[in-house]
Amino acid sequence: MINEIEIDKINVNAIKVNAIMATDKNGGIAKNGLMPWHNKTDLLFFKKKTIGNIVIMGSKTFESLNFKPLPNRINVVLTNNKDKYFNYNDSISKNKNNLFFLNYDEAIDFIKKNNNENNENNETNKTNKNNNNIFIIGGAQIIDLFLPYIKIFWLTILQDSYDCDTFLNLQKIDFAKWTEEIIYTDEKIIIHKHTIL
Ligand SMILES: NC(=O)c1ccc[n+]([C@@H]2O[C@H](COP(=O)([O-])OP(=O)(O)OC[C@H]3O[C@@H](n4cnc5c(N)ncnc54)[C@H](OP(=O)(O)O)[C@@H]3O)[C@@H](O)[C@H]2O)c1
Repeated sequence: MINEIEIDKINVNAIKVNAIMATDKNGGIAKNGLMPWHNKTDLLFFKKKTIGNIVIMGSKTFESLNFKPLPNRINVVLTNNKDKYFNYNDSISKNKNNLFFLNYDEAIDFIKKNNNENNENNETNKTNKNNNNIFIIGGAQIIDLFLPYIKIFWLTILQDSYDCDTFLNLQKIDFAKWTEEIIYTDEKIIIHKHTIL
């Protein structure tokens, strides 16, 4: 398990990632292992941002996707127990290059390599196609883990509460250190762009 000393050893500026998440108005992200809402606008936003890029998720989030990688994206699943997924690439992913099961150290190496190759890990490419930007897509454990490296946090807040049992640790995120821009709002959702100062 990663701890603060280990994070200190890594230059936080060497690793730059985006995060993209949705919560209800209480910070809830899931109920019984699934997202308990369906918001078309937010789904389209998520798709537009992540298509052609790299998504990194925890194994529980992968489970919530029925153990299927998101199409047209490179999927990285973080796990302490890679043996569990030994045969998955063969059985699930037609293209073996779009699904990786990595432990924390391997994920950090993977991100460093892609940061180096791309040099830009933000939204500079407006088409967002094949840009290989890295998006941490959850769940709560993985957001906690990568928090020091997140430079842009796309956060949708639903205006309702959904009796969730899994929560994003919004206190830990301390958005006082981030600039906030509202990029979309309607009666159901507000989409924020938080950029680290
Ligand atoms: N609302 C949203 O935007 C949103 C987005 C994504 C997911 N979700 C929901 O969030 C829920 C899951 O969130 P969660 O926080 O419970 O789980 P999670 O973050 O998706 O996954 C947790 C798992 O990640 C692995 N992991 C954690 N720390 C690790 C480390 N240091 N090194 C290697 N692997 C590590 C472990 O996998 P192993 O046990 O395999 O070792 C751990 O069990 C799901 O119900 C999903 O539907 C919501």
